[in-house]
Amino acid sequence: MKRVGLVGWRGMVGSVLMQRMQEEKDFDLIEPVFFTTSQAGSAAPNFGRDAGTLKDAKNIAELKAMDIIISCQGGDYTTEIFPQLRAAGWDGYWIDAASTLRMEDDAVIILDPVNRGVIDAALSRGVKNYIGGNCTNSILLMGVGGLFREGLVDWVSSMTYQAASGGGANHMRELLKGMGVVYGTVADELATPASAILDIDRKVAQAIRSDVPTEFFGAPLAGGLIPWIDKQLDNGQSKEEWKGQAEVNKILGTSETVPVDGLCVRIGAMRCHSLALTLKLNKDLPLAEIESIIKSGNDWVKWVPNDREVTVNELTPASITGGLEIGVGRVRKLNMGPEYVSAFVIGDQLLWGAAEPLRRMLRILLG
Ligand code: HSE
Repeated sequence: MKRVGLVGWRGMVGSVLMQRMQEEKDFDLIEPVFFTTSQAGSAAPNFGRDAGTLKDAKNIAELKAMDIIISCQGGDYTTEIFPQLRAAGWDGYWIDAASTLRMEDDAVIILDPVNRGVIDAALSRGVKNYIGGNCTNSILLMGVGGLFREGLVDWVSSMTYQAASGGGANHMRELLKGMGVVYGTVADELATPASAILDIDRKVAQAIRSDVPTEFFGAPLAGGLIPWIDKQLDNGQSKEEWKGQAEVNKILGTSETVPVDGLCVRIGAMRCHSLALTLKLNKDLPLAEIESIIKSGNDWVKWVPNDREVTVNELTPASITGGLEIGVGRVRKLNMGPEYVSAFVIGDQLLWGAAEPLRRMLRILLG
C-alpha cells in the first residue's frame, strides 16, 4: 500500500477532503500518515483505520518517507516545505490545493473529468506535481468543458459571483456575523408590519457602513457585494481575473490561447461560486446541439432548462450547495449574434472547486 501523507487535513478544504475520502472509501486503499504543524506526537484521527500518531509537518525526513503527499495546508507551507523536500531528493507525488506551484512548468493543474488526457501524458513524462485549480476555473470547466473539448470556443467572458468560502472559514463567519448585525438593527421594525420600509432601509444602510464587520473581507459583504477578489495587478485585472485565462488554458493544454476574461465579484453566498458566461462560439450551432455537447462534458453536469420556474429552484446556491453537481443553465443565444451564447454555471466551491480533484488524483495514482 502507498504511504500517503496528509497535511492540512483539519482546515476547511482538508476537512471536506477527509469527508469525501471517507465517503469514497479511499482510506481502504492507502496507508494514511497524518501530519501536523502544531501537535506532533498526538493521536492521529481515525477515518476508519488506525493511523498511529501525528507527525511533524516540517520534518523533511518524515515527509520523505511518503510515496504521495496531499497538502491542504496553504501556500505558505508549500513555499517553505516543497523546495526543501525536493532538494532532499524526495521523488514522490505532491498533490496540493494551494496555488503556489500551479503555473510551474513541472506541474499539472488537475481536473480529471476535463483534462484526464493532460494528466495521463504528464504521468508518462514523469511529472510529479499535481495541483488543484482555482475554484472558479474548475467550476467553469466542469460546467461547459464539453464546448472546449469540441474546440467550439473562440473566447469566453466570465463574470463571477463568488462565495465567502473562497476566502476561508473566517470569511464565512464574518459574512454570517454581518447578516446578524444587519438583521439586529431592524429586528423590531421588521416585527411591525406597519413600519416604514424607507426607515428600515436607512438604518440598514447605516449598519452596513458602520457596524458590519470587515476584518477579513476588508469591506462589508452582508447586504452587498465586493467587486474585487485577490491582489491588484498592474494591468487593471485582479489576480483572480488573471487566473481565468492562465489556468483554463493550462488545464486544457491548449496550443493556442483561448481568451478568458471578466470581472470577479464576491457575493454573500456561503460556498457556491457562480459564473455568468458569454461564450463566443466559432459556429452557429442549434441550441439543442449546444445542450447535448454541454451535457456530454462529464457525469456531474446538471442541465437546467432555460425556464423560469426550474431555474429559480435549481440553478441556485440553495439547490447546489454541498453536492457534486455543477448546474448549467440560462443557455440561450444572445442579441449580439447567433454565435454568442450565454450560460450560468454554479458549483460548490469546496467540492469540485477544491477537495474533489485532489482525491481523484490520488485515485489515479493508485491505479
Ligand atoms: N480564490 C478563490 C476565491 C478561492 O477567493 O473565491 C480559491 O480558488
